[in-house]
Amino acid sequence: MTKTTLNTPLELKGGVTIRNRFFKSAMSEQLGDDNHNPRMGLATVYKRWADGGIGLNVSGNIMIDRSALGEPKNVVLDEKSDLEAFRRWTSAATTGGAHFWAQLNHPGKQIPALLSKEPVAPSAIALGHGLEKAFNKPRALTEKEILGIIRRFATAAKLAKESGFTGVQIHGAHGYLVSQFNSARHNQRTDQWGGTMENRMRFVLEVYKAIREQVGDDFPVGIKLNSADFMKGGFTEEESMQVVKALAEAGIDLIEISGGTYENPSMMGSQKGVKESTRRREAYFLAYAEQVRQLVDTPLVVTGGFRSSEGMQEALDSGATDMIGLARPLAFEPDMPNKAMNNADYTIELKEPSTGFKGIDQMFVLGLVWYEQQIHLMAEGKSPKANLSAWSTVWFSLMGMGKHAIKKRRA
Ligand SMILES: Cc1cc2nc3c(=O)[nH]c(=O)nc-3n(C[C@H](O)[C@H](O)[C@H](O)COP(=O)(O)O)c2cc1C
Repeated sequence: MTKTTLNTPLELKGGVTIRNRFFKSAMSEQLGDDNHNPRMGLATVYKRWADGGIGLNVSGNIMIDRSALGEPKNVVLDEKSDLEAFRRWTSAATTGGAHFWAQLNHPGKQIPALLSKEPVAPSAIALGHGLEKAFNKPRALTEKEILGIIRRFATAAKLAKESGFTGVQIHGAHGYLVSQFNSARHNQRTDQWGGTMENRMRFVLEVYKAIREQVGDDFPVGIKLNSADFMKGGFTEEESMQVVKALAEAGIDLIEISGGTYENPSMMGSQKGVKESTRRREAYFLAYAEQVRQLVDTPLVVTGGFRSSEGMQEALDSGATDMIGLARPLAFEPDMPNKAMNNADYTIELKEPSTGFKGIDQMFVLGLVWYEQQIHLMAEGKSPKANLSAWSTVWFSLMGMGKHAIKKRRA
C-alpha cells in the first residue's frame, strides 16, 4: 500500500476527489453586507486560500435564518439571498480545483444579547459560566418551529448547490443549535426531540436527511461534530460516537471533529477536559478520532492544534484522520498548505495577541478577533501581518462594531 502524505488526493464517495489533505476549517469572516450577502472581499480572501494550496475550503458559518444571526455581519443563505454575489465567491474559492463547501449554521441560544432579546433553543435553559449577561435566556422551540428550521437547512443547502458551492457542511459543533439538541445539558425536552440520545440526535439526522433530499446522492454533505462539550451533564464522547455511527449509516460524506462550546471553548485549545496524552500531541482531538476510526469508514478530519508538517504527517500515519483541519494558522499564513507540503520540517507558531491587559484582551475577544482582522486585510487584497499589534485589533474592533465592540458577541 502506498503511504498517504499531505499531498495525496482523497476520494469521497460519489466520485468526488479532493486534491490534497488540507482542509480549511470554518472561520466566521464578518464580511456580510447590509443584506447579509457576501461582500466582494470574500472572493479575494478565498482565492488567496485556494492559491495557497488548500484542498478543501470551508466557508465561515453561513446562517440559514436571517432572524437568528450568530454575529452581526454573518452571511445568510435563504430565498432572499443574491445568488450572483454567492457565485462570485464560489468561483474565486474554487480556483485551481480547490473544493468550496458552505458551513450551514443556526446559533440557537448562542446569540449575543445585542442581536436577540429571546433566542430559541431545544429547552429554555440559559447559558452559564459567566455568559448569563451577554446571552439572553432562550425559549423552547415548538415542534412546528423545529420542522421549519430543518426545512431552512435544506433550502440553504439547495441554494448552496445552485450557487456553485461543491459541498455543504452542517455545523454540529461548538454549542450551536445542532449541538444544543445533542447535549443533555441543553436539551431537556420530553417529546420525540429530547430525552434519550436517540431522541436528541433526531434533529441532526433529520437535518441531514432533508439536505440530502435536496442535493442528491452525489453532492458531498459533511458535518462538524463535537467530540464532547467538556461540561458537566453535557454531550459525552460515548454519545458523540453514537451520533457518528448514525450519521455514517445515513450516508454522510465527511466528519470533521472538534469540541467545546461557548461555555468551555476547547476548540481553541483550552486545556480544560483535555487528556494529558492529547496535550502532548499537537492536535487536540486526535485521541478521540482514533476511537472513531475503529467504528466507521467515513473520511475524518481532525481540527484544532495542527502546527507542523511532522505533526500532520504523524496524524495521517496513525490512520486517525484523513484530512488536516486548519483555522488560525491560515489566517496569517495562507500559503501554509503549499509550504507544509514542500518542507517536512515546516512549523508555524500560533500568535497569542495581547495588549498586556487581560481585561482588555477578554473584552475585545482578541484571541479570535485578531485572526478576523487578518482575514479582513486579505479581503482588501493586502498581505496578512504576523506582527500585527493587539492595539490595532482593539481599534479594528471599535471601528467595525462601534459601541457593540465591548459587548460580548461570541465566546
Ligand atoms: C476568527 C475565527 C472564527 C471562527 N469561526 C468558526 C465558524 O464560523 N465555524 C466553526 O465551525 N468554527 C469556527 N472557528 C473555529 C475553527 O474552525 C477551529 O475549530 C479552531 O480555530 C481550532 O483550529 P486551529 O487550532 O487550527 O485554529 C473560528 C475560529 C476563529 C479563529
